[in-house]
Amino acid sequence: MNRVFTIFGGTGDLTFRKLLPALYNMSLSGQLAAEDRILIIGRRDYSNAAYRVLVQDWVNRFARLPYHEADFSRFASQIDYLRMDFTDPAQYAVLAERYHVLGDAAHIFYLAVAPRFFRVIAEGLSHIPAARAGKLVLEKPFGEDLASAKALNRELEAIFGAERIYRIDHYLGKEMVRNIQTIRFSNPLFTDSWNARQIEFIQISALEDVGVETRGGYYDASGALKDMVQNHLFQLLSIVAMERPAHFSGADMHAEQLRVLRSLRPAGREPIADTLVLGQYDGYRAEPQVAPDSQTETYAALRLFVDNDRWRNMPFYIRTGKKAGKREMEVAVVFRSPAPGVPRNVLIIKIQPTEGVYLKFNIKKPGDTEEMAEAKMDFCQNCVLEYRINTPEAYERLLGACMRGERFWFAQWDQIEAGWDYIESLKALAAQDGAALYPYEPGMPGPAQADALLAQFGHHWYAPEDA
Ligand code: BG6
Repeated sequence: MNRVFTIFGGTGDLTFRKLLPALYNMSLSGQLAAEDRILIIGRRDYSNAAYRVLVQDWVNRFARLPYHEADFSRFASQIDYLRMDFTDPAQYAVLAERYHVLGDAAHIFYLAVAPRFFRVIAEGLSHIPAARAGKLVLEKPFGEDLASAKALNRELEAIFGAERIYRIDHYLGKEMVRNIQTIRFSNPLFTDSWNARQIEFIQISALEDVGVETRGGYYDASGALKDMVQNHLFQLLSIVAMERPAHFSGADMHAEQLRVLRSLRPAGREPIADTLVLGQYDGYRAEPQVAPDSQTETYAALRLFVDNDRWRNMPFYIRTGKKAGKREMEVAVVFRSPAPGVPRNVLIIKIQPTEGVYLKFNIKKPGDTEEMAEAKMDFCQNCVLEYRINTPEAYERLLGACMRGERFWFAQWDQIEAGWDYIESLKALAAQDGAALYPYEPGMPGPAQADALLAQFGHHWYAPEDA
């Protein structure tokens, strides 16, 4: 059966930058069949031809695979634009008619819109017979706060059923995020020492060079904790810390990830000052759509514990920030020193922009000496041309996974709820405690207080160049 891929929010940044370039790549790699259709829903007035011209520009700029005129025309001929106010229930009759004309198809509905529109769209679709067996793809945020997100989730599940809802966390589509489980569980070298007895601390760092750009309105109501930590970085934390699941591709993995989040030492058990540092880059308050007295954090550093046998009393450090000087994301595993004066072994899983693995270990200096030196091995995976060409981008993978019904590539509601729950209680405690919001200069990797958070425990943030 052919597929109809409907995108609500067809003139937004996500659609242009990520979804359509990903679909173009998928048409080249054969994942999108020639008879599949892409239906774009937007409020602006475009003819199919005018909309396809826009798409051409974005595909040209953002698609991973090379742009070729003939390939693009074939792809573009599969795209239709439908002007529709999706907040108006009456207009779903037009959509129903369109689906009727397209005939029998498997439907995927991608909601590339703000969460306040999720309900009205799901409700509108529920009256279209052809749409009833379709899949609903949602982008975060999944609500405004935990309470509203829970309510929204209940309503969506009542309409679509839990099994047909796919929540995107694009970090789950990143090559090196998927690779963590292989590196951890397929190398005895690491598998057997992946615990608090051998490891001194683990750090998950996601720095960005960009600021809030055009998303000030959304971001100012969200902040780094909600925008990055409670979803993407908690996903990573739970993969790094989970027990080996019976299967990596099913509900088992989610269950193990969830167990990690539920084992987080409750917020407030440690002093807030030893748990959280928040920062805001200078100039943030002058960004478009940001309140001039905004107290929103653009940077967060956390010190967390997973209270189970494997990780008892070993800190996990997480940091993320905008305008932090560089785009660099990695997981650093810092092993305990075996004896005084012996440098720690460090394993760094590099997620982006470089994808690779870095390992620092001790070695004897050459010659008649017992003196030690540190060997640094650096494997860059995306420097290998063949891998670069063959590695799909996150959205490509996730769209493909949704088409195939592979739910394990998506964020599960109970995980989202656990992460959200933790962050909301931490924020409430921080507010109660009068936690400061530290300014930092754009271009710096956060405020100095984030370094002090680790330094008081004899630790520091690692990056491959200074590990
Ligand atoms: C998004 C956040 O989910 O992830 C953005 O809303 C952030 O604020 C982005 O910039 C980071 O994604 P990536 O793939 O560039 O690391």
